[in-house]
Amino acid sequence: MPQNVTQKIISSHLVSGNMSAGSEIELRIDQTLTQDATGTMACLQFEALGVDRVKTDLSVSYVDHNTLQMGFRNPDDHRYLKTVAEKYGMVFSPAGTGICHQLHLENFGKPGATLVGSDSHTPTAGGLGSLAMGAGGLSVALAMAGEPYTITMPKVVRVYLEGELTGWASAKDVILHLLGKLTVKGGVGKVFEYAGPGVASLSVPERAVITNMGAELGATTSIFPSDENTREFLTRMDRPQDWTELVADEGAAYDEEIRITLNDLEPLAAKPHMPDQVVTVASLAGTKVNQVAIGSCTNSSYADLASVANLFAGKHVKFETDTLISPGSKQVLKMLTREGLLENIIDSGARLLECSCGPCIGMGGSPVSEGVSVRTFNRNFEGRSGTKDAQVYLVSPLTAAMAALHGEFTDPATWGKAPQVPVLPDTIPSIRDQFIFPPEDGSAVEVVRGPNIVPLEQFAAVDADIEANVLIVAEDNITTDHIMPAGAVITALRSNVPAISEHVFERMDASFATRAKSITNGIIVAGENYGQGSSREHAALAPRHLGVRAVVAKSFARIHRANLVNFGILPLMLVDKEAYAEFAQEQSVTIPALALKPGEPVELVLQTGSRVSVTNDLTQKELDIIRAGGLLNYVRFSKRR
Ligand code: F3S
Repeated sequence: MPQNVTQKIISSHLVSGNMSAGSEIELRIDQTLTQDATGTMACLQFEALGVDRVKTDLSVSYVDHNTLQMGFRNPDDHRYLKTVAEKYGMVFSPAGTGICHQLHLENFGKPGATLVGSDSHTPTAGGLGSLAMGAGGLSVALAMAGEPYTITMPKVVRVYLEGELTGWASAKDVILHLLGKLTVKGGVGKVFEYAGPGVASLSVPERAVITNMGAELGATTSIFPSDENTREFLTRMDRPQDWTELVADEGAAYDEEIRITLNDLEPLAAKPHMPDQVVTVASLAGTKVNQVAIGSCTNSSYADLASVANLFAGKHVKFETDTLISPGSKQVLKMLTREGLLENIIDSGARLLECSCGPCIGMGGSPVSEGVSVRTFNRNFEGRSGTKDAQVYLVSPLTAAMAALHGEFTDPATWGKAPQVPVLPDTIPSIRDQFIFPPEDGSAVEVVRGPNIVPLEQFAAVDADIEANVLIVAEDNITTDHIMPAGAVITALRSNVPAISEHVFERMDASFATRAKSITNGIIVAGENYGQGSSREHAALAPRHLGVRAVVAKSFARIHRANLVNFGILPLMLVDKEAYAEFAQEQSVTIPALALKPGEPVELVLQTGSRVSVTNDLTQKELDIIRAGGLLNYVRFSKRR
């Protein structure tokens, strides 16, 4: 059977399952990446697995998010990550080396490889033909331990590109065009595989812009074939040995097809506050711009910044438009320096920031109140910039540079002849010596933990029925923010579960943590859609630390339900939703945990003597995971068996 690129990679990495869309499949993972904001928990989880060395071909731990070290917590995290990397065999990329996805593309990504990363923009590496997927920290920890990665077999959408980009249109406008057409939900359960004659007109960094922001479509991932352009890129990066050709077979089938004629595209912008609110830049002409920020994992390659530097040559940005530039990597910075382009940026009045995520993750660079910020980034959610009432527009580097020079959006029709897309210099300076490669044998390395880094505890297995007390009776639509608040708390305490647990449900009931700690086992009772919102693992992990053994609800949000299972908490559903009224705070309940079977109801016995029927939608494996005390234990024990 002829195969498309996605099918080729999946079939060569398939551990179990069948490749029909919607089926659950397990994949062997070749590479992982973590970044500091999520990687600290992933590393704690990896350590808890008790494996002595990472089992992937390559795992890289990048520090690029929380690089402002304004207290002991972030630098302690970075030191912890460095020592874990050395001990267990990961490559470590210190703060300031660059943004994980840009660095991975330049230094480590490979055509045909599978990559999971604890960052949603991991699909960037799809630009050189990797099947690269964003995942939760626990999934990445398991992949590092050699466990397969489970996904739902996606539908494969062929995005057929014809013609080539002309004028001021750029790769960013390709993905903005798709976002405008399909919306931020348009890619769920799908891989966007690019094909057609237009592919050859795009360089690897341009392709990576498109696959990076495919994440905003909600896609499983996006991927380009590996062709002559890929070979050329890897050769210039001094990695010719990493190239393999990977193209779709003649006659390969796809589930859907979208056609784009590249010549038809013009400069586009995503308006506040969603990446799919796409309009033409021309339609925004006259809008004053207070800030321009160029960089992020979407648009910080050499070509991106060289094109900006070329536009800035001999010109000055408007003083009233604060212009920030973050190169994606030290390699990009060195190339700009060698080619004499850095001087254009310095002379333009723009501010040069560290090679890191920077303003994209709110590490500096917040816009003025009610300010218009024009960014080359991938997200413009309300408040993400650090200024609640700022208006953030997402655009290409060329559009951003023109906005900086004019102090406002202008019509691209007035910009004159468009510049050529810069090509990579013939000789590219290496930054290999900036990475810390692990020793062959890391057994003597001591992992250094600051006071804020606390090893994960091992939760008890379920080997008896559970006597528990109701800790809270909550309403419908409880979000993960209600359970575990976002913001400063979770950022600062993410690697300290005992400390973060003090904040569970604090917005609803300040005594929750104290009461939970005063008893052995707890139950949460809730209404419909319990745990909606983010995929935050701490919203299950922290309650489990406080002794929560079950949540009895009318219904559960999907991702949180999976997190409950992963951390050994029973998600039980009321058979008769009216029985919700039977529960009261402090009441004791007996859960017949040993009698539980997948999909079969059991009766809870309440202190009042009444019996309430609950059921579950657990598979046998999920039930085994909970009985083992969570997924980490389950994997650890099954390895011993
Ligand atoms: Fe960093 Fe922003 Fe990308 S936080 S990884 S530059 S989306």
